[in-house]
Amino acid sequence: MTIDALTRPVASPERSLMAEAALDVPSLPKEAAYALLLSHAGAVLEGTPDPITAMSTMSCLLRQGFGHLWVGFYRVVEPGALLRVGPYQGSLGCLEIRFGSGVCGSAALWRKTVVVPDVSAFPGHIICDPLSRSEIVVPVFDARGELIAVLDIDSEHPAMFDDVDARCLEQLVRWFARA
Ligand code: SME
Repeated sequence: MTIDALTRPVASPERSLMAEAALDVPSLPKEAAYALLLSHAGAVLEGTPDPITAMSTMSCLLRQGFGHLWVGFYRVVEPGALLRVGPYQGSLGCLEIRFGSGVCGSAALWRKTVVVPDVSAFPGHIICDPLSRSEIVVPVFDARGELIAVLDIDSEHPAMFDDVDARCLEQLVRWFARA
């Protein structure tokens, strides 16, 4: 599949095929890779009302596109108190995380993106996969501004994530706040 094909909006009958296609972006500069991924996600998800479908699709695109160790969502199941794992790709994730616990729980509590260049230096970091060296967690809000989930991405490389990732991933999860 060419980059041109990936960026073209797709007609509805092709959407299931598009969702299965890998997005091969590692050779691109990070900003360009995200621009392609955002465009692809928008085309694939157009008309989809289901947030779980969107979480599954975004997890797939991010993992396939960037090759990260673990990509997925923790959903708010008790507001202000508890996250439970949702759609993800990678090794077995912890099932539940309390607000304030680890990186995910901290991002949920603070309602802010947290970039962790060295997970061993983050107090209370929860080890799901011992290969994880750095991570980013982005809060996900609905159209009313309620926190509904966090997007968690882990890398086996130290200091993998920066402000560009934060900005672009925040843009990606704005899909959940569309009216
Ligand atoms: N590293 C996370 C736990 C979740 S897993 O990595 C999948 C944290 O400390 O919040």
